[in-house]
Amino acid sequence: MSSLIRPSLIALVLSLSAGQMLALASADDPLTEEAKALVREFANQLQSELKSALEANGPVQAIAVCKERAPAIAAELSESSGWEIGRTSLKVRNAALNSPDDWETRVLQTFEERRAAGEPVDRLSFAETIQGEEGRVFRFMKAIPTQELCLACHGDQISEPVLKALAEHYPQDQARGFKIGEIRGAFTLAKPLVE
Ligand code: HEC
Repeated sequence: MSSLIRPSLIALVLSLSAGQMLALASADDPLTEEAKALVREFANQLQSELKSALEANGPVQAIAVCKERAPAIAAELSESSGWEIGRTSLKVRNAALNSPDDWETRVLQTFEERRAAGEPVDRLSFAETIQGEEGRVFRFMKAIPTQELCLACHGDQISEPVLKALAEHYPQDQARGFKIGEIRGAFTLAKPLVE
């Protein structure tokens, strides 16, 4: 009898813990859900504009999309959502706009460690509520994987005309030499919490 019960008990325990794990995984708090939805919106809009610009006019012209449209889309979304939305990286192209602060640098470093430990880059995210100078702030970051599409401007074999255009706009550019699957950077979001 007991030998019959035991396997089914084990099965029950296993299925329960799997169920609980699922519940945990999907039980993101509402702020994290909101942040993830904004990231999706930002990423989709940016990528579709980038793709059409690349197809229509090639990478030299498409640099303008990244230079003007990325900050513009971020500003529009920030305005309409009440969040602060941007992009950052350990190797930035636009240091004036996108340099990470200390918190972002630490999160980007842990993303690198988590990737080295085998976590898929498109799943890397991190949320934390921190004490800012003007009260508590909810912060969220999501890693951005390097894709084929990115290599024309961030890879290790950038064409001469693109190199020339980049040098004009970004003499301090560090955002090159990336390979597919590496972490190009991250979306970074912040929302002040009303006490
Ligand atoms: C046509 C050239 C081009 C392509 C293709 C391109 N980028 Fe960029 N990227 C830029 C430029 C230019 C900037 C600087 C934007 C600015 O001035 O804010 C930039 C900035 C960034 C930043 C902000 C951090 C930083 O370095 O300043 C991230 C993150 C980023 N790109 C990711 C990507 C990803 C991911 C892809 C592929 C899906 C991609 N880029 C494709 C040109 C490009």
